Amino acid sequence: MGYSKIIGTGSYLPERVVTNCDLESRIDTSDEWIVSRTGIEARHVAADGELTSDLAVAAARRAMEAAGVGPDEIDLIIVATTTPDMVFPSTACILQSKLGVTGGAAFDVQAVCTGFIYGLSVADKFVATGQSKCALVVGAEVFSRLLDWNDRKTCVLFGDGAGAVVLKHAEAPGIYSTHLHSDGNLGHILRVAGGIAHGQVRGNPFVEMDGPAVFKLAVRVLDECSREALAHNGFEGPDLDWFVPHQANLRIINATADKMRVPRERVVTTVARHGNTSAASVPLALDGAVRDGRIQPGHLVLLEGVGGGMTWGSVLLRW
Ligand code: ACO
Repeated sequence: MGYSKIIGTGSYLPERVVTNCDLESRIDTSDEWIVSRTGIEARHVAADGELTSDLAVAAARRAMEAAGVGPDEIDLIIVATTTPDMVFPSTACILQSKLGVTGGAAFDVQAVCTGFIYGLSVADKFVATGQSKCALVVGAEVFSRLLDWNDRKTCVLFGDGAGAVVLKHAEAPGIYSTHLHSDGNLGHILRVAGGIAHGQVRGNPFVEMDGPAVFKLAVRVLDECSREALAHNGFEGPDLDWFVPHQANLRIINATADKMRVPRERVVTTVARHGNTSAASVPLALDGAVRDGRIQPGHLVLLEGVGGGMTWGSVLLRW
């Protein structure tokens, strides 16, 4: 059957930066509170009129350029997003058109901050089985539009961005395995409960979160699914060259790395400069570490995420 392998990465952050100091002047918060609780120093916010597909197309083009593949080679596009451009067509179909890709399949996946891990897992199966020859997986979000910017408990945490990878078939890993989980009974601890019906927004259109409950769950399930991925393939935490976790909160990342016995210098963290970009966060961090030369061919890399649903999952791969 074979494997799939990531052959190119790309990412994009919108131009506008909102620092913690900018927020201090608008709501009752402080740079010290935000940095000490989350590690976040700034976030990027999309311009008016800039859509998820615009961020996605910029990240996708960079990934395709890095992979050396043109639009004619892509036969599967998966976009992970919680903030689609519109109800339909899917953001993946809009991206397909913007990239000039014709043919193949394009669809969105919705697993909030675990969306990229879910999308990569699905694409892996298509590519490893030969159903797709060349897949593009994108995590892209304009999460800033789901925030009540007067709610200091949530608005300081999130930002906008996009990250992308291109996958091709390989005879050796590549991706060793993927592990996906969810527990719908925990939907209430992190949600946007509003929806569109009868031409109107019904319910609260902004993020609601039980921060401490999310924190505790995240540390527990990230540890569990790391161990699951490592044990499944006969590895242990210290075997990892790089751990690339969801970039929600530095305290969650550090607590998980410590439990896994992965030294801090082998953990990729980008949360300080862009906050939690939901489905975009893992490919943004991955692209950063690939482009600055930290991740090298042959390295063992663990990607993982946790988010609304609640959902969580991991991908173990050889670079
Ligand atoms: N600035 C200043 N004070 C604040 C802020 C703020 N931005 N936000 C909350 N506070 C106050 C609260 O009002 C509260 O004050 P009170 O005691 O007078 O009521 C106090 O700070 C403590 O609030 P807690 O919610 O208990 O603070 P905690 O130490 O738990 O930190 C945080 C909150 C950072 C949200 C933490 O719970 C957390 O990181 N949770 C994980 C949430 C997360 O990462 N979500 C991202 C989405 S999910 C995901 O991607 C995994």
